[in-house]
Amino acid sequence: MALAYPQYNFICFDIFGTCSSLNNLRVLDEASNFSIFHGNICDAKAVRKCLVQHSVDAIVHFAAHSHVDLSFNSANTFCETNITGTVILLEAAREHGIKRFIHVSTDEVYGEVLPGATDHKETAPLHPTNPYSGSKAAADMMVCAFYKSFNLPIIIVRSNNVYGPNQFPEKIIPKFITLILRGDKVPLYGDGSYTRRYIYAGDVAEAFNTILHKGEVGQTYNIGTYDEVSNIEIVEKIVRAIGAKSSRHHHSTTEFDLAQHVHFTPNRPFMDSAYGVDFSKLRMLGWSPKTSFEDGLHLTVEWYRQFGEEWWGDISANLGAGEFKSHSPENLLEASLPINTNSLRSSSSPVDGNHPEIFKQDLV
Ligand SMILES: NC(=O)c1ccc[n+]([C@@H]2O[C@H](COP(=O)([O-])OP(=O)(O)OC[C@H]3O[C@@H](n4cnc5c(N)ncnc54)[C@H](O)[C@@H]3O)[C@@H](O)[C@H]2O)c1
Repeated sequence: MALAYPQYNFICFDIFGTCSSLNNLRVLDEASNFSIFHGNICDAKAVRKCLVQHSVDAIVHFAAHSHVDLSFNSANTFCETNITGTVILLEAAREHGIKRFIHVSTDEVYGEVLPGATDHKETAPLHPTNPYSGSKAAADMMVCAFYKSFNLPIIIVRSNNVYGPNQFPEKIIPKFITLILRGDKVPLYGDGSYTRRYIYAGDVAEAFNTILHKGEVGQTYNIGTYDEVSNIEIVEKIVRAIGAKSSRHHHSTTEFDLAQHVHFTPNRPFMDSAYGVDFSKLRMLGWSPKTSFEDGLHLTVEWYRQFGEEWWGDISANLGAGEFKSHSPENLLEASLPINTNSLRSSSSPVDGNHPEIFKQDLV
């Protein structure tokens, strides 16, 4: 978007946690309309400073703890960032007179879609089933409350699972690609039959472009696709995509041997069987997904083959299966997400309090 809209100034406000990498922003090194503000959305002072300093008029709120597996062991951390952080942003947005507040939620807030049931429309009740989706649903409620109480010009967006190049390999598709490229087995929960719908990151970016420019205040929009695959099918498709590239055929004839690529692991405490959203409302604004799962997966596999292992620093610790421990102070500490120092550029530039504004000076 920053490249497509040189007339807008974009500020990336981010804590740069474990799952982020400044490498993902290098494409904007030369963009004079893009800057970085290193901050925590739970830090009201930092949020206000950013809004004032950059005369912000629209917020697209992506910041979150987003990995379901981690949420089972650290529900508190998820609530702090996803709920309290959202409320701090809402309050700052209200004070600052923001013109658009786009809150990025998830399809998971609706809960699962059972076989034969219809996809969830935006008006469906929320039935979250894990601490991550519970925290996102609670944040959605606060966003609605700020719309009703204060007329804050909000829009809520709920998307299916996103995948594509540059995604931190803790999410299933990049994690599995990385493991298979390493020649390691991938961990599969339960019997691997759970399905999810996957949407390519480029299509999601286009959806946000549409919602930002054509979305109606006070509305919720689902971003969806019909590309639904089970976890086992993902492994098979990745193995074939990796084989296809080397044989220069889009559709590979590589044999898939389950035992060679998979080890089954204990399941999450709870796992929704499937999610599905009805995205006809967003279609009415002119958006529809363009990238098939086969095409998107090939692009993604190719990106990880080229860059995956070097992009993030050492990611070995993120490639295992979730371990769903009981709560103890040690486990909570372990589960909190530190800054990803692997991804930071080295710099001797001065640091403003706790906020390494080196990022801004480095990248703008
Ligand atoms: N990835 C998906 O499949 C998916 C699907 C639907 C909705 N979403 C939602 O989209 C948003 C982005 O998801 P993602 O997968 O890119 O997540 P991610 O975990 O990969 O990235 C989240 C970003 O937020 C930043 N962040 C975390 N806590 C912060 C804090 N306290 N202050 C400032 N920045 C903070 C992180 O550093 C990171 O850059 C989330 O709100 C998530 O709930 C994601």
